[in-house]
Amino acid sequence: MSRIKGKELSPELMALLDGTDLDSKVGETVLLLTVSESGWPHLAMLSVGELLATRPDEVRMALWTGTTTGKNLRRTSQGTLALVYGGAGHYIELEVTGTSGLQVGTKTLDYFSCAVTKALADVVGYATLTTGIRFELPRKEDVVSRWEHTIAAMRAL
Ligand SMILES: Cc1cc2nc3c(=O)[nH]c(=O)nc-3n(C[C@H](O)[C@H](O)[C@H](O)COP(=O)(O)O)c2cc1C
Repeated sequence: MSRIKGKELSPELMALLDGTDLDSKVGETVLLLTVSESGWPHLAMLSVGELLATRPDEVRMALWTGTTTGKNLRRTSQGTLALVYGGAGHYIELEVTGTSGLQVGTKTLDYFSCAVTKALADVVGYATLTTGIRFELPRKEDVVSRWEHTIAAMRAL
């Protein structure tokens, strides 16, 4: 059973999503669940290069433009981040507090500021989570550099 940890990100999740040392965090995958217009759960995947926790109760996100996920966030103002980290499942409920375009170099991203409304941790005694979804980057340096620009733009807001 998942346990409510409160309305704030844990120090461990803050450290993961604080926008620093992105190189060492390549592969960590965060699911973003939204609710579609027809009421279905809708999933997208994000990396640590598109998410920035500025405070334990605030998360900023920069998504690709024109996604269904972005439309869902604007329409419902709700989203849930889900990830496996540190041997636990973490489900973070977010309420969108603002949205705009975010200029990063020549590209515009779909920016959302969010308040953390609930933080759940999923841990059971009889099993240990060993890994979440992970990815590799064939051109890691290029991608990490892009992430750093995105994080800097979000931090500057
Ligand atoms: C490894 C991986 C990384 C992804 N990174 C991002 C990302 O940084 N930003 C983003 O908006 N979508 C990212 N996506 C794509 C989303 O999962 C999603 O397919 C996309 O945003 C389109 O979403 P939509 O179905 O809501 O239109 C990534 C997908 C994968 C498989």
